[in-house]
Amino acid sequence: MPDISDYDKLNYDYSQYWQERLYENLAEKNLLNKVFENHRGNWFLDVGGSYGRIASTYYNSYKYPVILDYSLNTLIKNKEIIKSRYPKITLIAANAYKMPFKESSFDGGLMVRVLHHIEKPEEYFKEAKRVFKKDARYVQEFANKVHIKAKIKALFRKDFEFFSEEPYEQPIGENLEGSKKEEGGIFLNYHPSNIKSLLEKNDFIIEKKLGCSFLRSQTIKKFLGSEVMIFLEKILQRTLSWTNIPPSIFFQTTLKKKALGKEVEQGSNLRDILACPSCKGDLTFEGEGYAECKKCNLEFSKKDDIWDFRIE
Ligand SMILES: C[S@@+](CC[C@H](N)C(=O)[O-])C[C@H]1O[C@@H](n2cnc3c(N)ncnc32)[C@H](O)[C@@H]1O
Ligand SMILES: [Zn+2]
Repeated sequence: MPDISDYDKLNYDYSQYWQERLYENLAEKNLLNKVFENHRGNWFLDVGGSYGRIASTYYNSYKYPVILDYSLNTLIKNKEIIKSRYPKITLIAANAYKMPFKESSFDGGLMVRVLHHIEKPEEYFKEAKRVFKKDARYVQEFANKVHIKAKIKALFRKDFEFFSEEPYEQPIGENLEGSKKEEGGIFLNYHPSNIKSLLEKNDFIIEKKLGCSFLRSQTIKKFLGSEVMIFLEKILQRTLSWTNIPPSIFFQTTLKKKALGKEVEQGSNLRDILACPSCKGDLTFEGEGYAECKKCNLEFSKKDDIWDFRIE
């Protein structure tokens, strides 16, 4: 089983990371607002959604949004604030590789700033293909290995192997997003062609490639205020998204898998879409906060009112 970046072990408060990153935050949200503003559906899945930073971008487009994250502590800590801003959202602790949902449950979804923690993207995409419906809109963001600064640095080092499609593992020298010098962690930058072919292999057809955070640089930040940067970012997103210049890339996709023969409209109750994360069998529920898999006898319960379906 692939390693998991367990934020609970890192005792990491992810919301703090965003205190000084207004430009990147708005650049991502503006991009996602456009992707989801005219889309409508029932169930929506934010994989690795943490404290709901980008929930505003899909919240009004889908009836039943779900945030799934491996960090139960993050979900518990932020539950009240998420619920007060987004009362319809359901929080679930689970592993993106082994999601506790029935096949073809979701009409839409995304994964933003999480793929760098996923060392086996091919396994994750297989699981994503299972839980999303035919024609679902799915957005995959990833840290771009061959962004312009990285390319220039590699050329100076005369490191020509850097240009291959292999993922680049960032050294954990400083505190990166979700990793700590003392504790380690997984932090991978991916080549766009690699992610494109893995998505397509799993029937996620890329409709748009959208570049983001073109101006991510401490020097630029010193000279330009966030407002000017956001203005320029909008122009760059429109004109240069086809390139591999930016450090972050979003693929807007549609899942073109075969429809399930027995495809039924999912109900509005969470229990209509839940399944055993291990064998994907049906669950039996006892009371409000306990579930058991009929097939493999695994037991699951709610912690602080949040389902804990984490398995490795
Ligand atoms: C850098 S944060 C990004 C949060 C959010 N998507 C955002 O953009 O604000 C990465 C999140 O991915 C979660 N994560 C990492 N590996 C995971 C896995 N295998 N399954 C589920 N969540 C995972 C972490 O717990 C963390 O909350
Ligand atoms: Zn089971």
